Amino acid sequence: MAPASTSAGASPTASPTTTSLDHYWMPFTANRYFKTHPKLVTKAEGSYVTFADGRKAFDCLSGLWCSPLGHAHPKLVETVKRQAETVDFCAPFQIANPWAHQLAGKIAGMAPAGMNRVFFTNSGSEAVDTALKIAMAYHRLRGEAGRTRFIGRERGYHGVGFGGISVGGLGPNRKMFSPLTLPGVDHLPHTHNLKEMAFTRGQPTWGAHLADELERIVALHDASNIAAVIVEPFAGSTGILVPPVGYLQRLREICTKHGILLIFDEVISGFGRLGSNFGAQHYGVTPDLMTFAKQVTNGVIPMGGVIAKQEIYDTFMTGPEHAIEFSHGYTYSGHPMAAAVGLTVLDLMQQDGLIQRAAEMAPVIEDAFHSLKGEPGILDIRNAGLSAAVELEPIAGKPGLRALNLFEAAIDEGQLFRAAGDTLAVAPPYLVSKDEIGRMVDTIRKLVRKC
Ligand SMILES: Cc1ncc(COP(=O)(O)O)c(C=O)c1O
Repeated sequence: MAPASTSAGASPTASPTTTSLDHYWMPFTANRYFKTHPKLVTKAEGSYVTFADGRKAFDCLSGLWCSPLGHAHPKLVETVKRQAETVDFCAPFQIANPWAHQLAGKIAGMAPAGMNRVFFTNSGSEAVDTALKIAMAYHRLRGEAGRTRFIGRERGYHGVGFGGISVGGLGPNRKMFSPLTLPGVDHLPHTHNLKEMAFTRGQPTWGAHLADELERIVALHDASNIAAVIVEPFAGSTGILVPPVGYLQRLREICTKHGILLIFDEVISGFGRLGSNFGAQHYGVTPDLMTFAKQVTNGVIPMGGVIAKQEIYDTFMTGPEHAIEFSHGYTYSGHPMAAAVGLTVLDLMQQDGLIQRAAEMAPVIEDAFHSLKGEPGILDIRNAGLSAAVELEPIAGKPGLRALNLFEAAIDEGQLFRAAGDTLAVAPPYLVSKDEIGRMVDTIRKLVRKC
């Protein structure tokens, strides 16, 4: 059968009213619902997006935790154009482009001391799978080939590769693939407990002891079989779960004691979301490997990567000099367009003091969101750096519907929230104003009273 006409879909200036919605199988989307409630973004500028039906909304989650500089930043537009005219693509294996090398240096300069080798991928999922492979190969190269097990955490999100869903802890993402997830993976318990920590501002004081579960897992399998532990410094996708005070430190201590690598998945926390370069610096814990993606290019061109301790990199640098040391990589690793955009993004973050700005706005968002305590149907309010979440009481028997209703109604009010389950999350661009934060909160207040 001949493919159906794509109607006007080929051109970005095509009329949204004639764009067929039939063919695109959308990711992590209720496809049938979307087609009856379409929301097509046709313009994104600064901190606002405009939909095809003319509604304009504040981009409360910076795209999907991606765009801390807002949209259509003139310097990024200029970089994309210039780079497309200079080197739009070059092969990544055995040759390279200078922008990727410069960006790696820049990232190393922002990472904790000693974490200074950068492997590029195109997404967070690929970054996670790459980090797992580096961990396993590292132990093997050191003569500990038995260290193959990984430890993730319940409610963790590490993307959608087979490695990522294996160490991830979200049931819906795993259940269809359960027989094929990586063997030899255990999960730490998640750290969220409404009874002990509901409405905590920032880090809860309860829960550091949950890191000791790692000792139990080590005792069960023996450390000689365990390659790495992977956690998000704060869990974003599952509704902003903030690490208890001392929890990450305890994980670090136990990993170090047993020679297990600690991987921080910094896909959301990297590049300033917490008001520090990385979650590692924010929480004062240095892992052995860190993943990143999203904010490094402001979401303009896809890019991800892994930052490794130099000692890990050096372990690979053995054998004949002409031989490939790590048989892994992607056609688009270190893509020159992404690398050039990344360089401009990180320059702008530095020149304009944007990470400092995120740090300054963190208490503003904390105060504003916690003012919602006591409103109807709010079970919890959480915040980490320049991000916050409101957990709503679900509609009986219909999990997720309450947040979806609110999400829909909020667009009419000019706010584009992120609904994850029954949690609404925000992580605005770093230049968000007090008024804009106030408007987000006013909208939630108004809608929880009636939705
Ligand atoms: C912590 C974390 N890791 C990995 C990923 C996957 O990234 P991507 O969607 O770019 O593959 C995400 C995405 O939100 C994430 O939050």
